Amino acid sequence: MQKRRVGILISGRGSNMQSLVAAMRRPGFPAEPVIVVSNRPEAAGLEWARGQGIAVHAIDHKQYANRMAFEARLHQALLDAQVDLICNAGFMRMLTGGFVDRWMDRQLNIHPSLLPAFPGLDTHQRVLDQGALITGATVHFIRTEMDAGPIVAQTAVPVMPNDSADTLAARVLEAEHRLYPHALELVATGQVSVRDERVVMAAPVGRVPTLMWPPLG
Ligand code: GRF
Repeated sequence: MQKRRVGILISGRGSNMQSLVAAMRRPGFPAEPVIVVSNRPEAAGLEWARGQGIAVHAIDHKQYANRMAFEARLHQALLDAQVDLICNAGFMRMLTGGFVDRWMDRQLNIHPSLLPAFPGLDTHQRVLDQGALITGATVHFIRTEMDAGPIVAQTAVPVMPNDSADTLAARVLEAEHRLYPHALELVATGQVSVRDERVVMAAPVGRVPTLMWPPLG
């Protein structure tokens, strides 16, 4: 089977990018990393990706007159790399309808909560402030609204009594690193389609390595 060509968009350290690349390097994985793009030239993840021999591009949004011009450059870089699927991995730019439409149902995002609960920034602090007992991580297709779109996969993560935003973020991040490769694999093998803004699986997902993290035991 032809591997799907994946472009990864980052803005920072890129730990989710690293987990995706590690998964894609496993024999038989149905996708390969072909380009990493950051909108912040100083993103630590760029250096890591370069060291892995992946083509990297810094496309600094501040150098463009408006969102449209930035997105046109980003789109061209992805086309030049013949990307099939985009994974946003800590990419901190909202995308306009023009870009979202061009990559409709071919662009994934990961968010560190059980969407539709707690979209947006400061997620973990808001989870704690609300006294929620379970949070998690979600991989979804991108739409123009922030952290919204058809849900591909989710993991639940318990909130512990003494959690700070940082300890909770660390526990959720471990779950993210397991969830994102699983979701990408589902999409890359063509098992996922979108109908009426909901994800439909071609077959029951037999193996869900990530439903609860840490695993109940
Ligand atoms: C992750 O928690 C991701 O869910 C959120 O931003 C964080 C990025 O972390 N969108 P990293 O850059 O992947 O380490």
